[in-house]
Amino acid sequence: MGELLRKVTFPELGDERGNLVVIEGAKDVPFEIKRAFFIYGSDDTVVRGCHANRQSEFVLINVAGTSKVMVTDGDRKEIVELNHPRDGVYIPRMMWKEMYDFSPDSVLMVLASTHYDGTEYIRDYDEYLKEIKK
Ligand code: TYD
Repeated sequence: MGELLRKVTFPELGDERGNLVVIEGAKDVPFEIKRAFFIYGSDDTVVRGCHANRQSEFVLINVAGTSKVMVTDGDRKEIVELNHPRDGVYIPRMMWKEMYDFSPDSVLMVLASTHYDGTEYIRDYDEYLKEIKK
């Protein structure tokens, strides 16, 4: 993966009974986890995200199905497909992100370093470019 996104692979403790993936804050992801949410029921016609966060760091994992994540810093751009419950992608602060191409069975889990605060979101791309280029 390139310079914007960092792939993270989680420990898998499966045995003959099935799979078990463990994610510990500050160990398997590079921050203490303060929030988890997940997105499902989206499809290949919607684009989610379309924002940047001034404070929050995230790890995104498709625990079922697949989706794509595009990030840009206003200059470089990277796209990754999330397609395995063991694989996540780390998104640092101040990265513009879009999630799309959700498979019908997609469950996209997001771990965040912060509690929700709507004021730390930048939802306008031109505003994002202004802030990032300061
Ligand atoms: P939104 O940021 O648009 O979702 P996405 O980035 O996945 O496209 O969030 C949708 C709504 O849910 C919006 O009104 C804000 C609210 N929300 C919370 O209250 N808490 C949260 O942790 C998140 C992620 C969203």
